Amino acid sequence: MKLFLDSANINEVREANALGVISGVTTNPSLIAKEGRNFRQVVEEITSIVDGPISAEVISLQAEGMIQEARELAAIHRNIVIKIPMNAEGLKATAQLHKEQIRTNVTLVFSANQGLLACLAGATYISPFVGRLDDIGQDGMVLINQLSEIIGIHDFPTEIISASIRHPLHVTESARAGAHIATVPYKILQQMIKHPLTDSGIERFLKDWETVKDK
Ligand code: E4P
Repeated sequence: MKLFLDSANINEVREANALGVISGVTTNPSLIAKEGRNFRQVVEEITSIVDGPISAEVISLQAEGMIQEARELAAIHRNIVIKIPMNAEGLKATAQLHKEQIRTNVTLVFSANQGLLACLAGATYISPFVGRLDDIGQDGMVLINQLSEIIGIHDFPTEIISASIRHPLHVTESARAGAHIATVPYKILQQMIKHPLTDSGIERFLKDWETVKDK
């Protein structure tokens, strides 16, 4: 199990990278828009900080356009992975990029069959969106379990990135369900670190140390 950071914020990328626990970064057009900066520049900066898969998403709606964008993005850095939406055009683009040995992350996966199709098209990664399924009253973790089972039984090389993570329990459950990766927002990473008993434990140790430090 690996953790990626789900962010396009350079400070967050730096801080998370310094923890030594993230091995990749995922971005999307909404995360880039939140930063209000040039897409290419942001992606380049991220590649200079994290030495691992960095997902950058295409915005074309036709396969040809996606493939063109993918080739340009892949040329930025060897670690760039092309995020492709899960639809018919996205599958065509994924299959072609697989032939060209350009790595892909098929995103916006909401069903086991969508995930299966992406695996068959040669996706390097698939991103099932757990939180957005929970939002509409479906248990997103069921999808992670199903995909994990399908990939295991059929020995697909595709890796599951558990995405749209909303709270620390999503990460624990994704790990238990066999997701290869969970991509976590910076806030969730911080929440994963914290435990009140750790904080009070440190405080107690320091207080006790004060009583003997000069002896
Ligand atoms: C994953 O690659 C996506 O960027 C992300 O997890 C989407 O999460 P959201 O549903 O919180 O927007």
